[in-house]
Amino acid sequence: MHPSKILLAALLLSTLALSATSSKVTYDGRAIIIDGKHKLLMWPDLIKKSKEGGLDAIETYVFWDSHEPARREYDFSGNLDLIRFLKTVQDEGLYAVLRIGPYVCAEWNYGGFPVWLHNMPGVQMRTANDVFMNEMKNFTTLIVNMVKQENLFASQGGPVILAQIENEYGNVMSSYGDEGKAYVEWCANMAQSLHIGVPWIMCQQSDAPEPMINTCNGWYCDQFTPNRPTIPKMWTENWTGWFKSWGGKDPHRTAEDLAFAVARFYQLGGTFQNYYMYHGGTNFGRTAGGPYITTSYDYDAPLDEYGNLNQPKWGHLKELHDVLHSMEDTVTRGNISSVDFGNSVSGTIYSTEKGSSCFFANTDSKNDTTINFQGIDYKVPAWSVSILPDCENVVYNTAKVSAQTSVMVKKTNVAEDEPAALSCVNLKEDDPVWGDNMTLRIAGSGQILHVFVNGEFLGSQWAKYGVFDYVFEQQIKLNKGKNIITLLSATVGFANYGSNFDLTQAGVRGPVELVGYHDDEIVIKDLSSHKWSYKVGLEGLYQELFSSDSSKWQQDNYPTNQMFTWYKSSFKAPLGTDPVVVDLIGLGKGLAWVNGNSIGRYWPSFIAEDGCSLDPCDYRGSYDNNKCVTNCGKPTQRWYHVPRSFLNSEGDNTLVLFEEFGGDPASVNFQTIAIGSACVSAEENKKIELSCQGRPISAIKFASFGNPLGTCGSFSSGTCEASNDAISIVEKACVGQESCTIDVSEDTFGSTTCGDDVIKTLAVEAIC
Ligand code: GAL
Repeated sequence: MHPSKILLAALLLSTLALSATSSKVTYDGRAIIIDGKHKLLMWPDLIKKSKEGGLDAIETYVFWDSHEPARREYDFSGNLDLIRFLKTVQDEGLYAVLRIGPYVCAEWNYGGFPVWLHNMPGVQMRTANDVFMNEMKNFTTLIVNMVKQENLFASQGGPVILAQIENEYGNVMSSYGDEGKAYVEWCANMAQSLHIGVPWIMCQQSDAPEPMINTCNGWYCDQFTPNRPTIPKMWTENWTGWFKSWGGKDPHRTAEDLAFAVARFYQLGGTFQNYYMYHGGTNFGRTAGGPYITTSYDYDAPLDEYGNLNQPKWGHLKELHDVLHSMEDTVTRGNISSVDFGNSVSGTIYSTEKGSSCFFANTDSKNDTTINFQGIDYKVPAWSVSILPDCENVVYNTAKVSAQTSVMVKKTNVAEDEPAALSCVNLKEDDPVWGDNMTLRIAGSGQILHVFVNGEFLGSQWAKYGVFDYVFEQQIKLNKGKNIITLLSATVGFANYGSNFDLTQAGVRGPVELVGYHDDEIVIKDLSSHKWSYKVGLEGLYQELFSSDSSKWQQDNYPTNQMFTWYKSSFKAPLGTDPVVVDLIGLGKGLAWVNGNSIGRYWPSFIAEDGCSLDPCDYRGSYDNNKCVTNCGKPTQRWYHVPRSFLNSEGDNTLVLFEEFGGDPASVNFQTIAIGSACVSAEENKKIELSCQGRPISAIKFASFGNPLGTCGSFSSGTCEASNDAISIVEKACVGQESCTIDVSEDTFGSTTCGDDVIKTLAVEAIC
């Protein structure tokens, strides 16, 4: 296969759901896209914004657990409507990539495996095991046949250009020995036997059997080489940020570094790269994996959890995509030559009979360097790539961001008379009591344990972020004769990654012991082999308290700070179409539903660990998820996405909370998220765009052309400025408009006193 196209794909995850679909917009997953009544559809909007962002293709997962929730019972309804999702992509004129897996990893519960699979006699996952392979083949064949039947593979004239089998098996294969090698062979043969007419990819699988294409995953893949000389260099997961865990910090990856990674990849012969995530969305229901993955799967992706543009990331990448597309013919067909300029600066020149295109990369993480190419000096900032589509003019540099920075704001729900407090009703009560004679000791392997003795609450314990084993030990008061110890164990997402991840234990691993202290003597009585009865699930869930209009709810004096309490409240949907979140501050941990739709686990009482730096984030140097983190010491996740498709725009809506730890719902309130202000800072000779994403720009708070100082929200004039009043020029161009374009030049703003040595910049802060 000759690499003849540059492809920029995006993995859109979204979940949500009507009954359950697939893609984290659920087209099962994290992305919400449609609902049966066609209220507000997220899929088309997300896909449209991806196209506007300069992408060619949308990749999506296919979540096995969502589509086959019970063996041979399938669900492709509502948000799980894979075919409808692919057709929406097609309607937008984009290609599609189908990540079948069906092991997907994805921070998705159990890596996407249905739990019934785990319970099949004799099954061993991800290895040469007939029971597993039979189920994997069955599901993969089903998906392929559905797609074929609708003529959606590119070989049939449809949008699907690639499909993926397995995921990063090469990372764990050695743990499975020869059986693992046999499994990879089997995966390849099985996939190939389905005759989809487009290539299959495997990622992180350097021994991928022909004709499988091995691809790269990571923050950088410029140094990756495919495993056969005849196959294209492809990057299937370019991590745009990182996921978040309960107790962990908020990861951020800068637009500059992400653009640098992409430009380096194409400079060094890349043909296809897929942003992971371009839109990450929300882990609705109990789909979050882990353990300990948060409900938000925002990922600091170019489209944020709610579908808003994450600026400047989205815009900076859009510019890059436009430049790369403009050079597509040269870069894919041209002869390649390289120049080493020294000081970690390297150039790559692609030439055809029609012309040449150049990349100059400076991989030094500190020093800017000036190089001379064909008689012209070019300054290449540290950790950046300059792109010259004609090998003369720098049209784009990855470290120079002229896309706007959007500052998002949360607004209270003006549809409510009393927006701050919800009036609640409660269902049941509990009375914790402490014992003091001996201790009860329980070894647990996560993730949450609540202990009761003779019907009274003794204590709780849960894992710390990253440390899932713990020992619970508390004093206990027992009766003479019979005592009943009740252990309630809750999981916060099953493991989704690693060799044999499917065998990771969660819950009460044991031993369960009584420890008696008699003077200096310690007596241990092991209760592990006593008769324990076992019950799965919560009564309230079985009774569907989250959706039914039960008469059992009490109206007055609802309890606070009490474990295992159900709360219910009604509210009006916030006006307008801006994304909606519910602020769950004051609550402990639990599950929440809006109109019967689970919006996921909540846990605002889990405070994110320390370790955030006060220094500004430096895009230079290799990124990993511990760099540029925020949110230390604050609730890991305080706001929870409520898709508009879950809401009745007229009339009442119901919020149901199951509070597991105890909390006070008095401060729970609904808010909308919208852009509050937009800033740009761009060098002269650029055209910049300011936009309030669909609403008019109401005022210009700051504008200066010269050498202004500061960052968005704190701009100030520098030592030189243009002669004309920059504020009134920008006001005239922008106020009242949804977006405006400005030429950053002396022609627009008048001459300055800055002198020729200063590169003049324009800084603007607009209020939306
Ligand atoms: C990759 C995996 C993805 C996702 C990612 C981290 O290794 O293939 O599915 O889990 O890591 O977000």
